[in-house]
Amino acid sequence: MTTRSEITVRSWSRADRAAVIALNAELQDYERGLRPSRRPGAEMSESYVAGLEERFADPGEEGALYVAEVDGKIIGFATCFVGADELEMATEEILIHDLVVAAEARRRGAGQALIAAVRRFASERRITRVVVSVLTINEAASAMYQAIGFQPATVTYELSEDA
Ligand SMILES: CC(C)(COP(=O)(O)OP(=O)(O)OC[C@H]1O[C@@H](n2cnc3c(N)ncnc32)[C@H](O)[C@@H]1OP(=O)(O)O)[C@@H](O)C(=O)NCCC(=O)NCCS
Repeated sequence: MTTRSEITVRSWSRADRAAVIALNAELQDYERGLRPSRRPGAEMSESYVAGLEERFADPGEEGALYVAEVDGKIIGFATCFVGADELEMATEEILIHDLVVAAEARRRGAGQALIAAVRRFASERRITRVVVSVLTINEAASAMYQAIGFQPATVTYELSEDA
């Protein structure tokens, strides 16, 4: 008989930093596979995570980083920040900034569990809208968001001479 290991989601701590940097590089390289203009993960991940830490330390910002763990190993993370959209009646929103689950741990509910933590972060602040930007060709991420109940709302059009 096999038992399915349990996924735990919790706020990150300093000890998780290296695992988060590695997973962030995986996220970046995944998206780079879909959009080659993205920087290589190894080149940007450490400074990107340092930038997140600066934002978490800024008293003017409110955000969170959640890690998903299985058997003591970090297999995914999500970040979110409180933002505002002055055009909406409910101005405040939660922006999902980053989300990734390690390739070998996908389709076991970790993505959904990380989003559940973000939704708790939102409801604790009585914020009713959660938004996320997804590459239009990222079918797996779109499928996951839609499975949870997210609806496509806006599209970013781009005119680039680099492509
Ligand atoms: C998107 C991602 C975070 C999903 O994580 P996950 O742990 O695999 O997702 P879950 O197991 O919680 O999936 C929940 C549901 O979403 C849907 N879903 C998830 N991945 C899917 C896929 N590849 N194809 C179709 N549906 C998918 C399914 O309905 C799934 O339920 P099921 O497995 O019972 O069918 C993961 O694929 C990932 O890290 N991708 C690379 C990075 C990325 O694209 N991040 C998002 C940037 S916006």
